[in-house]
Amino acid sequence: MRKIYLSISMLLLAGSFALQAQTQIPEVEELLSKMTLEEKIGQLNLLTPGGGVATGSVVSEDVEAKIKAGNVGGVFGVSSPERVRQAQDLAVKNSRLKIPLLIGSDVIHGYKTTFPIPLGLSASWDMELIKETAQIAAKEATADGINWNFSPMVDISRDPRWGRVAEGAGEDPYLGSQVAKAMVEGYQGDDLSKPETMISTVKHMALYGAAEGGRDYNRVDMSRAKMFNEYLPPYKAAVDAGVWSVMTSFNDIDGVPASGNNWLLTDVLRERWGFDGFVVSDYTSVNEMIAHGMGDLQAVSALAINAGLDMDMVGEGFLTTLKKSVEEGKVTEETITTAARRILEAKHKLGLFDDPYRYSDESRPETDILTAANRAKAREAATKSFVLLKKHNNTLPISKNAKIALIGPLANNKNNMLGTWAPTGDQQLSIPILEGFKNVAPNASITYAKGANISDDTTFAKKVNVFGPRIEISEESPEQLLKEAMKLVANADVVVAVVGEASEMSGEAASRTDISIPESQKKLIRELAASGKPVVLVLMSGRPLTIPEEMELPVSILQVWHPGVEAGNAVADVVFGDYNPSGKLTSTWPVNVGQIPIYYGMRTTGRPAASEKFEKFKSNYLDAPNAPLFPFGYGLSYTEFDYSNVKVSDATLSENGSITISATVTNSGDYNGEEVVQLYLHDKVRSITPPMKELKGFKKIFLEKGASQTVTFEITTEDLKFYNNEEEFIFEPGEFEFFVGGSSDNKFIGSFTVE
Ligand code: NOJ
Repeated sequence: MRKIYLSISMLLLAGSFALQAQTQIPEVEELLSKMTLEEKIGQLNLLTPGGGVATGSVVSEDVEAKIKAGNVGGVFGVSSPERVRQAQDLAVKNSRLKIPLLIGSDVIHGYKTTFPIPLGLSASWDMELIKETAQIAAKEATADGINWNFSPMVDISRDPRWGRVAEGAGEDPYLGSQVAKAMVEGYQGDDLSKPETMISTVKHMALYGAAEGGRDYNRVDMSRAKMFNEYLPPYKAAVDAGVWSVMTSFNDIDGVPASGNNWLLTDVLRERWGFDGFVVSDYTSVNEMIAHGMGDLQAVSALAINAGLDMDMVGEGFLTTLKKSVEEGKVTEETITTAARRILEAKHKLGLFDDPYRYSDESRPETDILTAANRAKAREAATKSFVLLKKHNNTLPISKNAKIALIGPLANNKNNMLGTWAPTGDQQLSIPILEGFKNVAPNASITYAKGANISDDTTFAKKVNVFGPRIEISEESPEQLLKEAMKLVANADVVVAVVGEASEMSGEAASRTDISIPESQKKLIRELAASGKPVVLVLMSGRPLTIPEEMELPVSILQVWHPGVEAGNAVADVVFGDYNPSGKLTSTWPVNVGQIPIYYGMRTTGRPAASEKFEKFKSNYLDAPNAPLFPFGYGLSYTEFDYSNVKVSDATLSENGSITISATVTNSGDYNGEEVVQLYLHDKVRSITPPMKELKGFKKIFLEKGASQTVTFEITTEDLKFYNNEEEFIFEPGEFEFFVGGSSDNKFIGSFTVE
């Protein structure tokens, strides 16, 4: 009892500290002075009326009446501009203080112009492109009345069993931070009151991607050093880029769920990082603290607001309990005022007090959404997200005059092109691969057969099909499907098989313990490979897959994720050689599930294995190698890139100085192409065990065939800093090794010493 009392009073202190730190906006202060406690609490309530696409298991009731009563600060999941206007009308015309609503939405990889899934986008390693996709998404979404986006999701994850790896930028904190910054800048622009920009939300704070066993919503437990060095950087990068909103995660951290975690939301986020926007819970995550074992709704709501959570998504715990908590002295009115102030300041930033209908210009949808230019960008983004995993016998690129057997359950399929978390997109507008092939290679002779179901398992299909048919099991038997396909193969010059995961086999609540290609398709692939014809596997998935068997087959493999609305055109651009693939993996692909977690930045052990040969009493497996199937940063091209003349400008680096590491890259193959030149460092000795390698820089360059370019990276001691066990951000003098190349498994090049 005493313990609880103590911690609550500490939380209250933390709340008032944050209050003092705020700079106040006169218009907001005036409004606050007129508000009742109930009206302030109303601002902290976020509802979803349903009617759009469900993004959680419950929807809010009596939303209209609650808006009119001043009990709602924002809504999300409202699906059309008319409904947005209606909702805004309810608030502005009917509530006592006429405070406009925040209108939220999950615009994760494009609004109506759906770009590739975020994991795919990150594989482009092209920050300008990623920023442009966010700008386009903001322009389209705001044209439909939305002013607040629940993106970017920047959760680092090293566990491809977790379905939500599809939504993030992979495993690396440095790359993840660059992507976070690009997306926040893309959505928010330089002025939030412009009608084409929107509030961005970085999510899910924090560590959600480290859910135990890769099972969604599961516990997380890790050291502070690991948090600060490996998992927190992308959230911080978003805060540094000026993100205006932060969403909490479902998991606990040090045993306290994120939505009620004072250390996370106040100490780290506000006091250390200086965040001054607002924090929203995830969907009912306040209520879920009851199941976490933190008390009843009354208690968990007080815990959350005192910890620094400002807005309660869907659960209405704040709405229904906070007044009583204030009366009982468990929450101060000042804490409520602080949270309400943050919501009102966001509305002020958006310009909603000047014009609540700023985002409801009826002429915009026509001119701003799904334009030819936006679709062209989606096509470009998709081509740049593809990763060439394996080349076999120069099958790729394919001639535009070839006789092609296009096979596979994803080859002529509109329902799986957009990928997970595209609730605002329209599948029917997506270009299937077959259509794209016909567009790009009108002179090719193309025949198509499904060949196999995505899965033959009806129970599995039912679980995947919650948002509509993704896995459609044909009336024909698997044998018949295969037979029809093999007939076409017999008459073709080349076979292209489009196989892999349905879009909802990844994403939220879509964890898998077996991340291989489903057996129905494996059988098809084996038969195709045995046909003797040149075979290209076009692999779709929302996560790294385990494909050691397919790697052994005589096939080429092009990974295309879920490519978005321009899927077919983009795949055709690459398959027929109009674009030379340049993507690089942003998460390690394991050989098998037993290797997970596996990532390039693992820390060294005391008994490292010297090679892939099994060694007793060394850190290795009896039944699998230590090396992954494909390392982070890996990706091939139709051409070849050679690295030479890799050097460091000075043998020593001093505290305020800088050195450069440079390499000459030559395109020595037969095609023009792009290469992602990557720099990794290894701190040889430090006070906490160092990662084997850390990405510290990358540059994507274009080289015509035969051309060379020298790429230079500047290094200062800032780049060498890490958090020690005292949570100090420091560098330690000593020797650093560097590695430069086109993948994280590039070779040791040299070293420098830091004084
Ligand atoms: C739950 C998800 O975890 C989150 O990412 C999303 O923004 C909300 N639902 C709202 O749809």
